[in-house]
Amino acid sequence: MLTYNYYGHACFLLDDGKCKVLVDPFLTGNPQASINEKDVEADYILITHAHGDHLGDAASIAFRTNATCIGIPEVTDFGGQRVKTIGMNLGGTVKTDFGFVRMVPALHSSGIGGGIACGYVIGIGGKVIYFAGDTALFSDMKLIGERDKIDYAILPIGGHYTMDPVDAAKAVTFLNAANVIPLHYNTWGVIKQNAEDLVKLVKGAKVHIVKPGQSLELL
Ligand code: NI
Ligand code: MN
Repeated sequence: MLTYNYYGHACFLLDDGKCKVLVDPFLTGNPQASINEKDVEADYILITHAHGDHLGDAASIAFRTNATCIGIPEVTDFGGQRVKTIGMNLGGTVKTDFGFVRMVPALHSSGIGGGIACGYVIGIGGKVIYFAGDTALFSDMKLIGERDKIDYAILPIGGHYTMDPVDAAKAVTFLNAANVIPLHYNTWGVIKQNAEDLVKLVKGAKVHIVKPGQSLELL
């Protein structure tokens, strides 16, 4: 069984029953946070970029849990803190205890000099999950959907900093994803959106609206 646990904003945990994969652990200062960073468990931490609402509590959680951080080397440097890291870069695939992680492009700033923003294709529990990170819509999302059959696409819909529901719906078409989970909205006023708009716009995929603190079994 593979579970998606949503902790608010762009932070979630994928759990296949053996491995816990935490993504973009912004909890301290996150108005949507459904868990305290001191209570989060993780075996791996994936980081898409160094903006505070993504890198967040990664260093302290990694230090406490001994989790392995995966990201662009510039992003996972953490100012030299002693945490386990796997530095990788766009186009690369890393085999992990739970399956694999492929780093894919995102169209966004990195939040750190020399870095670049990314998304991830995650193979876990027999499923393929695509997390776009923070990004604008880009047509090369088609290539991501051609290489892997995307079971779940986890997409930002807040607008202002990322795609909005209109562009996210187009992304679903490019990705040819079977299921969609929106995030990165309603954390603050500038990214206020009605997720039901995405439900109306998406064609050919099932949209799952998961609220902070809720979990979804990924079938
Ligand atoms: Ni960002
Ligand atoms: Mn963001």
